[in-house]
Amino acid sequence: MKIKIMEVGPRDGLQNEPTSLSLEQKKIFIDLLVKAGHSDLEIGAFVNPQKIPQMAGTLDLARSLTRSPPTNFWALVPNDRGYQDARSAGIKHIAVFTAASETFNQKNINTSIDGSFKRFETFMPAAKKEKIRVRGYVSTCFGCPYEGKVNPKTVLKVTERLLKLGVNEISIGDTIGVANPAQVRALTKQLLKLTGPKKLALHFHDTRGTALANVLTGLETGVQIFDSSAGGLGGCPYAPGAAGNLATEDLLYMLHEMGLKTGVNLGWQVEAAQYVQKCLGRILPSRYLQAALGQQSHCPPGN
Ligand code: HMG
Ligand code: MG
Repeated sequence: MKIKIMEVGPRDGLQNEPTSLSLEQKKIFIDLLVKAGHSDLEIGAFVNPQKIPQMAGTLDLARSLTRSPPTNFWALVPNDRGYQDARSAGIKHIAVFTAASETFNQKNINTSIDGSFKRFETFMPAAKKEKIRVRGYVSTCFGCPYEGKVNPKTVLKVTERLLKLGVNEISIGDTIGVANPAQVRALTKQLLKLTGPKKLALHFHDTRGTALANVLTGLETGVQIFDSSAGGLGGCPYAPGAAGNLATEDLLYMLHEMGLKTGVNLGWQVEAAQYVQKCLGRILPSRYLQAALGQQSHCPPGN
């Protein structure tokens, strides 16, 4: 079975970092991820740079990237302004984002859940006409940093509404990394009744170390798309305390060792994660990355 990975490192991964990568550094990072063979890569976000300074320059970045047909370049779009910017940069894969918690939505995008849909409705007809692929994120599906527990019924309602809006894929976000496998099993069973496995992705942050266990549970219930980030980078400035996304290297290692195919080369993935680790000047949380780098220092090339 082939599992689809959405590599979110250049967007979710970098959006919470205290230092911003330069345009050139982002291009090299993305180029290495393309070399790794990713079919789907989130390169940035067309959002207010005053709120997310790390995503400033997404327009120039998107314009400067060489389009490689096997890799879809995705970008976050919150409103019509973002949609127009994405289109002017030649982006054909966009992600809209809302949440299952009103407070998180207000803090993150300055509007209610209902308000976020009103914004999406301003550009969805154009997106359909222009054959743009649209992913719909639902954040805080397992817990909210402001409201605590989230009712799974709200997640199902928001998901249904996104599907009605016409998104091609839904990504269910554990924004603050609180989900456990029992919750994941119960929720994904319900979600798969609303949409098939070709349209449902799980997006885990690994704040409490449960992300791989949650992926395994997702796999067992039939999910075939998972989001992850190079080096285990990630977080959201409006989700205090949230740590990085599940590391792509750890995810690839587990899936490949289980005999599942992803189409992503783990060696090049490590190169990409190692590069971004150097740029940021700190040790990244990916376990596989650190094990691979540790082995490299003990076994120089040729040994
Ligand atoms: P707003 O304040 O409601 O919008 O922002 P506004 O229309 O009142 O405009 C305010 C200012 O923003 C104006 O600039 C606009 O031009 C500008 P000013 O006149 O003050 O200089 N503006 C924009 N600039 C660039 N691009 C745009 C844009 N729209 C307005 N598209 C908005 C609404 C959503 C834009 C704002 O709240 C924002 O940018 N929020 C950031 C949201 C974000 O990127 N969060 C992180 C990503 S979500 C996430 O991480 C979760 C996820 O990973 C899944 C998970 O883990 O759960 C996806
Ligand atoms: Mg996220």
